[in-house]
Amino acid sequence: MSFLGERLSITPPDNLGTKYREEEVERFVVECMMSQGVPRANATALAEVLVAADVRGHISHGIFRLDMYMSEVMKKICDGHATPTIIKESVSTALVDGNNGLGPVVSNFCMDLAIKKAKATGIGWVCVKGSNHFGIAGWYPMTAVKHGLIGMSFTNTSSLVVPTRGKNNIMGTNPISVAAPAKKDDSFVLDMATSMVSGGKLEIAHLKNQPIPEGWALNKHGKPTTDPKEMLDDGSLLPLGGTELYSGYKGFGLGMMVEIFCGILSGAPYAHNIRTWTKSTSPADLSHCFVALNPAFFANGFEDRMSDLMDHCRGEEPDEGGKAIQVAGDPERAHTQKVKEDGGITYPITLVKTLWQLAKHLDVTPMQSA
Ligand SMILES: NC(=O)c1ccc[n+]([C@@H]2O[C@H](COP(=O)([O-])OP(=O)(O)OC[C@H]3O[C@@H](n4cnc5c(N)ncnc54)[C@H](O)[C@@H]3O)[C@@H](O)[C@H]2O)c1
Repeated sequence: MSFLGERLSITPPDNLGTKYREEEVERFVVECMMSQGVPRANATALAEVLVAADVRGHISHGIFRLDMYMSEVMKKICDGHATPTIIKESVSTALVDGNNGLGPVVSNFCMDLAIKKAKATGIGWVCVKGSNHFGIAGWYPMTAVKHGLIGMSFTNTSSLVVPTRGKNNIMGTNPISVAAPAKKDDSFVLDMATSMVSGGKLEIAHLKNQPIPEGWALNKHGKPTTDPKEMLDDGSLLPLGGTELYSGYKGFGLGMMVEIFCGILSGAPYAHNIRTWTKSTSPADLSHCFVALNPAFFANGFEDRMSDLMDHCRGEEPDEGGKAIQVAGDPERAHTQKVKEDGGITYPITLVKTLWQLAKHLDVTPMQSA
């Protein structure tokens, strides 16, 4: 945690647990947000996305980010009460103003709108400006999958990524998610930053005092680094692929594609025009794009073929490492199963302590371990 946490000085007890049930994490997030006047429905929308991130194994985008959302609401940079409005629409498209609401509140509205349009016309394509950080990109396409639709989401973010051949960060980590339904509750869920990894993975590595693999990041002098702190201290992430030799220009291109769908289509700030990450005194003014596509408007048997494709890939012979082949969404499915078997989500103790301090600071009941 990087915002409120550093300002809190109350010493937490030594006997805090590290495992927490999903319902308890959700209760805590909702109460923290409501303590700052955020309506329960909006606080719940945020809590659900954060808990889903933790359950799926992306703790960089779960409750770890709570103090960022809290901080922005407390400083009135983000409006916890706001709900989105439609600026203009056709049968299959819409441009929405997020009115500076919480990212998940704005994004659920837009994905639901895209789903409604896709059911009626085959496709719903919704762009939104005036939003805030929406959490894991995969949350929204997974909603479309529950309706038997293909879902996609995209968002721009503050610049952390250096372009191929460049020195300065001009592109966000701009994630892409595409999810598609298969048979028996199976689904494909690609959810990925267009940089080597999300910036959050470096924050978590720093929290755990661990090095990062070579090839992910540069320090502020443009030199490769394996120290996450060096990247977080005005360094850069490389686009997906890495350096030019390893086709990093493809990740750079994908980051730009996200901007075409987000900042450029919605007429909002894009790339280098977006405010600096964490040094925030003004609204984030992020934009997102949500797409729902209805397979029923195409060839029959979509889910059968999806299952066949995914199962074929999974059943292919592994390399000498012997590990089974996975398709996008499988690692998160395995993590979800592990959380279920463990009876809760396990957090690093440093994070648990910060959350306890946050609870005391806000006069909210701290999370009770499982
Ligand atoms: N809101 C934001 O501003 C923002 C910005 C960047 C990233 N994010 C989020 O951060 C999270 C992490 O992003 P990331 O790019 O670091 O994710 P990642 O690299 O861990 O995973 C990316 C994708 O690869 C798949 N995958 C992983 N291992 C695999 C394997 N061995 N075989 C097949 N598929 C595999 C995963 O299922 C996932 O779909 C995502 O949820 C993303 O939406 C959010």
